Amino acid sequence: MTLGMSDSNFRKPVRKAVFPVAGLGTRFLPATKAIPKELLPVVDRPLIQYAVDEAREAGIEEFVFVTGRGKTAIVEHFDTAYELEATMNGRGKSLDPLEPTRIEPGNLVTVRQQVPMGLGHAVWCARAVVGNEPFAIFLPDELMYGSPGCMAQMMEAYNEVGGNLVSVLEVPKEEVSSYGVIAPGESKGALTEVKGLVEKPKVEEAPSNKIVSGRYILQPEIMGLLASQGKGAGGEIQLTDSMAKLIGEQPFHAVTFNGRRFDCGSKVGFVEATLAIALDREDMGAEVREMAKKMLG
Ligand code: G1P
Repeated sequence: MTLGMSDSNFRKPVRKAVFPVAGLGTRFLPATKAIPKELLPVVDRPLIQYAVDEAREAGIEEFVFVTGRGKTAIVEHFDTAYELEATMNGRGKSLDPLEPTRIEPGNLVTVRQQVPMGLGHAVWCARAVVGNEPFAIFLPDELMYGSPGCMAQMMEAYNEVGGNLVSVLEVPKEEVSSYGVIAPGESKGALTEVKGLVEKPKVEEAPSNKIVSGRYILQPEIMGLLASQGKGAGGEIQLTDSMAKLIGEQPFHAVTFNGRRFDCGSKVGFVEATLAIALDREDMGAEVREMAKKMLG
C-alpha cells in the first residue's frame, strides 16, 4: 500500500499542536541559564505565549509541549497560580492579564525529549499524544505577527487542499543555508505546490529562496517516517528530511504568510520583535515612538 493512502482525503480536522521547546537556548546566555528561552518576554508576553495565542486563534484545542530538563517553568506559565490570583483578587486587581495563560484542564500535555537529537526527533517524541490525527507544529522562536495569524491562514489553505502544509517566506539567497528550503511548483495566490524540500542547503544548491518558517500542518504518517529517519544536516534528525518523503505520496503545499516574521532565535531579531510590537501597541506605541526618535537623535 502506498504511504498514507488509506486516508482518502487528508482533511481530518487539526486539533493538536506540538511545540518543540526542549532547546538549550545557548545563544541567549546568560539570560537563559535558569530561564527557558521561550519565557523571555517580548514586551510583556513570553515568546511561547505568542505561539500559543496563534494556535488558539487557529482552533487548536490540545497543546503538546516537547520539553527537556530545566524547561518546567514553561508548563508553570500555563498553570493556575493560586497565590498570585488570590493576592490579586484581595487587592481588587483584574485577572485579565492572566487570561491568555489559561489552557482547558487536560489540554496541556508534556512529553520529554531526553537528548537533543534534532527537530525531527523532538516531533517524534510527541507521537503517542498525536496518535492518528493530522497536527500542527509551532517553532516558537519564529514570531509570526499578523491578523489573521500565520496558522489561521494555513488552516484556511488546509480546508481547501488538505494534506501537508508549511509556511514559507522569501529571504535573500545568501541566508538560505540556515533553513529548510522548498523546491516550488505551481503557485496560486498564497499557495505553492511543494516539489522538494532540503534542510540547510549550500547557497549554490538551494532550489529557491523560499524558506520554511516554523509553522507546519502534517499528516500523522510523518511519525512513521521519523521513526527510521537517519541523521541529516548538522548530524541531527531533521523533520525536513522526513517531510520530503511525503511529497508525491500526499498533497504538500506551502503557504506564504501575509504578515511579519521576527526571528527571535537571534538577538537582533528579538530586539526587532520587541521594538516592532511595542510600536504597534495601542497602550504604549506613541510613547515608544517618541522615545525611539529621541534615542536616534
Ligand atoms: C528549523 C528547521 C528549518 C526551518 C527553521 C525555521 O531549523 O529545521 O527547516 O527553516 O527551523 O526557523 P533550526 O532553526 O532549528 O536550525
